[in-house]
Amino acid sequence: MDNSCQTLTCLPAPLLLLLFLFIVAAAPALVSADKFVVGDQQVWAPGVNYTAWAEKFQFHVGDWLVFYYQKGYYDVLEVNATAYEVCAADNPIVNWSRGRSFAYQLNRTGNYYFICSRGYCYNGMKLTIVAKPLPATSPAPSQNDSSASSGHLRVVAAWIAAVASVFVLGLS
Ligand SMILES: *[C@@H]1O[C@H](CO)[C@@H](O)[C@H](O)[C@H]1NC(C)=O
Ligand SMILES: *[C@@H]1O[C@H](CO)[C@@H](O)[C@H](O)[C@H]1NC(C)=O
Ligand SMILES: *[C@@H]1O[C@H](CO)[C@@H](O)[C@H](O)[C@H]1NC(C)=O
Ligand SMILES: *[C@@H]1O[C@H](CO)[C@@H](O)[C@H](O)[C@H]1NC(C)=O
Ligand SMILES: *[C@@H]1O[C@H](CO)[C@@H](O)[C@H](O)[C@H]1NC(C)=O
Repeated sequence: MDNSCQTLTCLPAPLLLLLFLFIVAAAPALVSADKFVVGDQQVWAPGVNYTAWAEKFQFHVGDWLVFYYQKGYYDVLEVNATAYEVCAADNPIVNWSRGRSFAYQLNRTGNYYFICSRGYCYNGMKLTIVAKPLPATSPAPSQNDSSASSGHLRVVAAWIAAVASVFVLGLS
């Protein structure tokens, strides 16, 4: 084989086909959870407009919110809507103050509310987001459709293609 040929386009045709089949077959499985760093570079700190931050994104069930904050100064409380509005830090649903970060997975649809205690909530350290259902990745099963087995076939096809790709790559 020509060693100078390094791009995808000069792979042998059968291998390209296998790669293509693998990508098509595996596509639904590639829809993965997103990770959002709250506040981006400004992280979890006073004086950041988290409403403006949250407006930039769509959040889905399974996604992660990661709060980074200055160790020992700030915390992350999950609270209800009422407590969010008035910055009430008593009886939070979740209370995290250890270390310098907190990763929270959105495990249901609906509204989530986070505040910082110790008065920082009044300084803007409050975040509310809405988690939407995962976008549909395959058509709804129709009547007497063997969707379960076709989903299974997809996975098998992806597996076969993957093994074949590795095998062909190993030979070349
Ligand atoms: C934060 O951003 C939102 C949306 O961009 C805006 O409506 C709101 O007035 C801002 N709040 C502050 C305190 O600047
Ligand atoms: C959060 O929990 C810690 C102990 O784990 C406690 O000291 C702190 O007072 C709690 N904060 C709030 C706002 O509930
Ligand atoms: C919201 O949480 C507060 C405690 O922070 C609690 O007193 C209140 O009853 C809760 N409200 C609802 C509607 O659950
Ligand atoms: C979601 O996670 C929280 C803790 O982060 C837990 O208390 C709650 O029961 C979970 N809900 C579901 C529907 O799994
Ligand atoms: C679907 O399956 C049911 C029995 O499970 C059967 O009575 C019905 O005729 C089938 N419909 C079609 C369109 O095959």
